[in-house]
Amino acid sequence: MSKKVTRRQFLSYALMGTGGFMASAMLMPMVRFAIDPVLQAGGEGEFIPTPQKVDDLTATPIRVDFTVKDRKDGWYKSDVSNTAWVFKEGDEIIAFSPVCKHLGCTVSWEGDPAHKNEFFCPCHNGRYEKNGKNIPGSPPLGPLDQFEVKVEGGYVYLGKTIPNTLV
Ligand code: FES
Repeated sequence: MSKKVTRRQFLSYALMGTGGFMASAMLMPMVRFAIDPVLQAGGEGEFIPTPQKVDDLTATPIRVDFTVKDRKDGWYKSDVSNTAWVFKEGDEIIAFSPVCKHLGCTVSWEGDPAHKNEFFCPCHNGRYEKNGKNIPGSPPLGPLDQFEVKVEGGYVYLGKTIPNTLV
């Protein structure tokens, strides 16, 4: 026995189908964005080796350059250079991101001779204490981020950036 589909039913099925298709087209990029870091090699939880020997670290921050291999950007993979400011605080190794929390320029240790023992951002005279705390009265509104740190074979390995744990 065949059941006849009325014109009204046909239209409502067609609209549901179209609506469902449009909803999935909008949701898929959001789902992909949410799970992408988990799918990516070099994402969450991975530590990148640096050329920095732990034994050579002191209490004075030094610039450590390192390379993130095969960083995925859409379909494109490339090596990305990165930098950290690394020093010892007692037994702990601290690694700060050089990205200024004002507008993203690069900070450097004692970059301004007028302000010893501070990180300095030349773009708008941003200043940070050695623990990464932004100095009130200068443009940055938050402290420098840190990298997760681990030691392997006597060398410093750096992970993802995390909010400053020292201030
Ligand atoms: S970007 Fe660093 S002070 Fe403005």
